[in-house]
Amino acid sequence: MNISSSSILITGASGGIGGAIARQLAGKGAALIIIDRDSSRADSLAIELRAMGAKNVFPLVGDLTQPHMPTRMIEEALNQAGDIDILINCAGTQNFGFFANEAIIDTAKLFNINTIAPIALTNAVLPHMLKMKKGQIVNLGSIFGSIGFPCFATYSASKFALRGFSEALRRELVGSGVKVTYVAPRFTRTPFNRSAVTRMADAMKMNQDEPEVVAASVIAAIERNGQDSYLGWPEKLFVRINSIFPRLVDKPLMKQVAQMRPFATEGAC
Ligand SMILES: NC(=O)c1ccc[n+]([C@@H]2O[C@H](COP(=O)([O-])OP(=O)(O)OC[C@H]3O[C@@H](n4cnc5c(N)ncnc54)[C@H](OP(=O)(O)O)[C@@H]3O)[C@@H](O)[C@H]2O)c1
Repeated sequence: MNISSSSILITGASGGIGGAIARQLAGKGAALIIIDRDSSRADSLAIELRAMGAKNVFPLVGDLTQPHMPTRMIEEALNQAGDIDILINCAGTQNFGFFANEAIIDTAKLFNINTIAPIALTNAVLPHMLKMKKGQIVNLGSIFGSIGFPCFATYSASKFALRGFSEALRRELVGSGVKVTYVAPRFTRTPFNRSAVTRMADAMKMNQDEPEVVAASVIAAIERNGQDSYLGWPEKLFVRINSIFPRLVDKPLMKQVAQMRPFATEGAC
């Protein structure tokens, strides 16, 4: 996909990874449609992106978990920008802690933003992309979307669902000109990870990436019309091992639960 001539919609554009993607795309001259929940934050990001070289920036405001909001956002984006070549589903949230302590209302909120919103946005934009015979859907997943991780049970589940959706849709859209890309980062230093998660990651010496590195990988995957991209070594190897020999991964992860316990108890949502 040629980025400089594309019109690109990014959700979660004020977040750590979404913001880094938006800034790197602005430098490439793409037209950007950014969705944020806060209008002043969206406006100031738009000013910054224009100054960085984005041809056109269209800030839209909306909570993507509200009924009909994904459809409304796609309609507004098409009205204002005239086209959407690439949809980057980056907005997301995380539940951390022992599942027994998680309130189901928080589980529903998590699935609404991590799984239902990207699916609903895709559903709303797909007729346009199919008519144009071109387009790319990019879904931000996670390494935890391939490896069920203790103390992140519902977060893992929401990303497993997004990965399954991406894989199935990619196969369904063969020959249509519309591509589906699933990108799975590992732990990334953004406000996404609350204090307890960050301290746990430090204590457990988890590998960590900067959001700019993840953003560059997302853009590289778009440019090569890539299918899946798993970030980090040895994480991408563990993804393979877990899919073929999950019992081999059970043991080390189950051992880590004791180490995670103090943080998971503190961080329970
Ligand atoms: N950071 C990591 O360690 C990591 C690792 C693997 C995968 N990921 C994935 O990467 C993506 C981006 O993560 P990040 O680190 O950039 O997170 P972040 O810094 O917390 O940004 C998340 C963005 O999503 C937006 N958002 C949340 N709920 C929303 C809603 N209901 N409607 C509209 N926007 C909403 C947030 O807006 P508000 O500021 O208004 O809440 C924020 O702009 C997520 O899908 C995440 O699952 C992150």
